[in-house]
Amino acid sequence: MTLTLASANRPLQGRVSLPGDKSLAHRAALFAALAEGVSTVRNYPDSGVTRAMRGALEALGVPSRLEGGVLTLAGNGLRPFPRSGAVAPCGNSATTIRLLAGAVAGTRSSAVLDGSEGLRKRPMDRIAEPLRLMGADVATTDGRAPITISPAPLHGMDYTLPVASAQVKSCLELAALGADAPVTLHEPGPSRDHTARMFRAMGATVVSAGLTETVHPATSLKPLDGTLPGDISSAAFLLAAAAIVPGSRVTVSGVGLNPTRTGVLDVLSAMGAHISVASLREEFGEPVGDVTLEAAPLHGVEIAGDLVVRSIDEFPALAAVAAFAEGETVVREAEELRYKETDRIAAIVAQLGALGVEAEERPDGFTVRGGTLKGGTARANGDHRLAMSMAVCGLRAPVSVEGAEILNESFPEFEPLLSSLM
Ligand code: S3P
Repeated sequence: MTLTLASANRPLQGRVSLPGDKSLAHRAALFAALAEGVSTVRNYPDSGVTRAMRGALEALGVPSRLEGGVLTLAGNGLRPFPRSGAVAPCGNSATTIRLLAGAVAGTRSSAVLDGSEGLRKRPMDRIAEPLRLMGADVATTDGRAPITISPAPLHGMDYTLPVASAQVKSCLELAALGADAPVTLHEPGPSRDHTARMFRAMGATVVSAGLTETVHPATSLKPLDGTLPGDISSAAFLLAAAAIVPGSRVTVSGVGLNPTRTGVLDVLSAMGAHISVASLREEFGEPVGDVTLEAAPLHGVEIAGDLVVRSIDEFPALAAVAAFAEGETVVREAEELRYKETDRIAAIVAQLGALGVEAEERPDGFTVRGGTLKGGTARANGDHRLAMSMAVCGLRAPVSVEGAEILNESFPEFEPLLSSLM
């Protein structure tokens, strides 16, 4: 599918609410499968990646029902999956395969975890090696999927993650539930802490101190009953759209504001957009609020360090904004972007380049010179976020995005919601 958005000939205006956060949705389904009793999760998103998690759980014998945005799932408890030994297809979802690996090992189940061609290219040693240090029996295919896991007793450990990664951290935290002693994890940066928060809400013991988390073994988890906050990673594209169309004022209601995820708001503010947050509240142990962005003149910024970790998924959206800012935006210390759905450093630079933007790769990031976008044809290259970021550029110049159907993996409501603001 080729997507061409109509250019915005007037400011974006209005208020929208979004389907639930994907990171929380993955965890809610998987942790509910490990709970005793029936979980009910409202505002559950229905997209390619959340279907991947639900499909993989169903393959392992834990089906769920999604009706009117409400997920219902009867847990199997912290015991081997009913269809232990099955092949679990994880689609395009790295969060599904990496977190499920921890749950399979932690429940002493066996499984073959596999996925799409794209998923088979992504590194799995980052979970297999520390799982083996705990005693898990894990075989990868040259460090990638398919991953075969067989039952083995797990031990406690003290482990320092080489990169800040919530998927690796959460995989090990899931395995820790079934270990014979606590597992302590140290991280080089503040990756999202949704697993620790949800574990606590389900009755598990997790002790957090700065960049260290310790998960204690558990015998049972309580089921979940709650509403998922809107996905800040989806909100990022609507806020980016509002930021680049002069005079816009857009509110996204009920969006998740976990401080490990709000780097995008800090960067947009630093670039000059006016951002305010109202109606702060809590859901699932997560801060939630209404975010309003008012467009204002934008200028380039430098993004590095913890801010990279706190906006790790938002660089495609931020790169679109950088293309319309005055001066240069420089992203450093962001090598992790090379291990996402695509090598996002190379892909962002190539696709902005296809639209005429002066952008350059650096080994650990990229540079964008604002005000140089002319328009043209960009390619999504199998990356849902790249598709949406290039489409957003189309609000200010004629842009077509080839392969845009991939955005259904994460945010099928993107185009109608953006149109509702135009
Ligand atoms: C996620 C963690 C991040 C992020 C991904 C979702 C999660 O990946 O990019 O979209 O839900 O744990 P890494 O752990 O590889 O940084």
